Amino acid sequence: MSVHKHQEKRITTHVLQEMKQRGEKISMLTAYDYSMGRILDDAGLDVLLVGDSASNVIAGHETTLPITLDQMIYHASSVVRGVKRALVVVDLPFGNYQGDSKNALQSSIRIMKESGAHAIKLEGGEFVQDSVKRIVSAGIPVMGHLGLMPQSIYRFGTYTVRATEEMEAEQLLKDALMLQELGIFALVLEKIPADLARKVSETLKIPVIGIGAGKYCDGQVLVTHDMLGITYEFAPRFLRRYANLKETMNQAFMQYIEDVKSGDFPNDKESY
Ligand code: KIV
Repeated sequence: MSVHKHQEKRITTHVLQEMKQRGEKISMLTAYDYSMGRILDDAGLDVLLVGDSASNVIAGHETTLPITLDQMIYHASSVVRGVKRALVVVDLPFGNYQGDSKNALQSSIRIMKESGAHAIKLEGGEFVQDSVKRIVSAGIPVMGHLGLMPQSIYRFGTYTVRATEEMEAEQLLKDALMLQELGIFALVLEKIPADLARKVSETLKIPVIGIGAGKYCDGQVLVTHDMLGITYEFAPRFLRRYANLKETMNQAFMQYIEDVKSGDFPNDKESY
């Protein structure tokens, strides 16, 4: 039985704020479809992120850049149909908010109206402040994302750990405070030193969710396909694998092939 089966209270941005205040860690994983959304929600995850990592793990692209708004809405609406309790957050895809706050608002409204999700997430600090301001002013909860920002991979040129230099670390803290001031409800920090993430988490009043950002964050997020071992080539140091589903699935598929080829499947009980 799942840990939280008894707990029907919906997770809201307000609940996440309360969790930070009482020191209860927030659990977050990605989801891209109905079946996985349902399993994750049933297990008791607090937040489900319909991440633009769907571009990598679902569509097989090398980066998160190609995924479109329509595709994100399709993934998000599928997840929402499977969820009763978790807060569902959807990534604004690349090209739908950078440098154009009107587009940012229109895209966020489309996500909220067409998918039924509860919040949006976007990457960046001072460069996206106009977009954040506009979206928040429309009453849409915004989650920020600083540190390694995969939509800026061609600017960074590498997926290595960010903000190890003082200047970048100072800018990150400045951006985090600015985003909080603009009204975001939570912040993701990706692949930065644990001490810096600790400083940001202790400085901000809003929850800080880490991925490769150490143990002092208010919560943790991973890409579900990575932690389940479905994606098996991606092995950064921060990734803990909780299962080896590639192996489990492979065994099942090989057994099925054998059973079909040998005529063992279907047997009489499996026939009408
Ligand atoms: O798209 C995604 O999955 C993300 C997480 C890595 C935080 O942004």
